Amino acid sequence: MRLDKYLALAGYGSRKEIKQFIRNGYVEVNGEIIKKDDFKIDENNDSVTFDGELVEYMEHVYIMMNKPAGCVCANDDRKAETVFEYVPEYSHRDLFTVGRLDIDTTGLLLITDDGDFAHHIISPKNMIPKVYQCDLISPINDEQIKQLETGIDFKDFSSMPAKVEVVDSKRILLTIFEGKFHQVKRMLIAVGNEVVNLKRLSIGDVTLDEELIEGGYRLLTTDEYDKLIKK
Ligand code: URA
Repeated sequence: MRLDKYLALAGYGSRKEIKQFIRNGYVEVNGEIIKKDDFKIDENNDSVTFDGELVEYMEHVYIMMNKPAGCVCANDDRKAETVFEYVPEYSHRDLFTVGRLDIDTTGLLLITDDGDFAHHIISPKNMIPKVYQCDLISPINDEQIKQLETGIDFKDFSSMPAKVEVVDSKRILLTIFEGKFHQVKRMLIAVGNEVVNLKRLSIGDVTLDEELIEGGYRLLTTDEYDKLIKK
C-alpha cells in the first residue's frame, strides 16, 4: 500500500496534508526517513512512525455503539443528528451503519467501513438473528405470540417466523432474522399491539456491551468480529 494512503487510513490528515508531512521528513519506515508519498509499504510487516510515534494501522474499523434515541443512521440529515457525529475520530473513514435503526430506536448498532462485513450480516440468507427488546402498549396475548412465531404476510413481504420471549406482560424479546424497514414495529401493529419503546440487544452472538451508555461506543473485539463472521 502507498505510504500516504496508509497514513490517511490511520487518521493523520488529508492526503494533501500527509504528502506535505512526508516531504517534510516526519515519517520513517523501518527507521529510515522516507520522503516519497507513493513509497510502497507492507502494512503487515513494516514499522511506520510519524514524528517518532508508532503508527497503529487498521485496514477497517468495526464499531459497536449503543445508539441513543434522536439520531439517525444516515450520512447526513438536515434536521436530526446522525450516529456518525458520535464517532468523530473515525470521520476520515467511509463509515456506514450495518443496517439501520429508526430515529427513536436505541441499542446495538454496528458501524464499519468494511462492505463485505456489513453485507455478511445483513444478508437474509445468512439468517443472523437480531434480538429486540420491545415495550408494548398493551399486554401481549397467546394469539399475538402465535402470529409472530408463525410469520406475518405484509403487502410487500412475509416475515419469517420470529421467536418471542415474554419478559412480562408488556415487555417481550423478539428475535427476527431479517431487517426490513420498521419491521418490528410493523409486526407488532399487524398482530394488534404496538411498540412504545424499542431497543436492539444483540446481533448474532454479539450482545450490546452493558458498560456503554447511550451514545457510547467502542471497537469490536477480535472475538466479537469472529463470532459475527463465524470464523
Ligand atoms: N424494527 C423497527 O421497527 N425499527 C427498528 O429500528 C429496527 C427494527
